Amino acid sequence: MRVLVVCLLAVLGCSVAEGAIVPKCELKQKLTDKFRVQAKKEGVEFDDTVVAKIVCHVEYASGFNTSAVNELTVAKEHNNRRKREDSGVFGLAKYEDTETVWTLYGLFQLSNHLICNDGTTETHNICDMDCDKLIDDNIEDDLDCVLTLFKIFVIKLIFQDDCIYVIPSEYFKECV
Ligand SMILES: *[C@@H]1O[C@H](CO)[C@@H](O)[C@H](O)[C@H]1NC(C)=O
Repeated sequence: MRVLVVCLLAVLGCSVAEGAIVPKCELKQKLTDKFRVQAKKEGVEFDDTVVAKIVCHVEYASGFNTSAVNELTVAKEHNNRRKREDSGVFGLAKYEDTETVWTLYGLFQLSNHLICNDGTTETHNICDMDCDKLIDDNIEDDLDCVLTLFKIFVIKLIFQDDCIYVIPSEYFKECV
């Protein structure tokens, strides 16, 4: 029996290393905890629509996969706008004005030009972290990064069209 348990854990460990799928309700809970603490610090009301929008963004952007990596061609001007919006990155793509390829990392699909440092790309590195940290199985630092983004840029940066009007009580109805 003990051998079996050890094997099961080994298998789990393995699959986690290759990209874990974070359960939607777990992500909701973790984000809620962080944003609640933050709201309290700022003396503002906690707003659960923010959490719903972020989780919705994650669903579309990475499918809740912690090791999702995607490339995004950011074109000059606004032709490609639609694509960029679909791809999330919290809308930060609009600050770029030459054609360039971005790599988007992890659950939240954060950019190597703005949010993290991949070691070769010139970056604002807003979250002051290696991009690799955004695709490992530890999502705590990813969550802290998102909180940082929200502290700086507030909510308007969620551009995923399908998430704009998300209603928390409906979107999270399976979560208790
Ligand atoms: C998560 O994404 C990684 C990298 O793209 C991929 O190799 C892995 O199969 C994905 N995991 C699941 C469960 O879809």
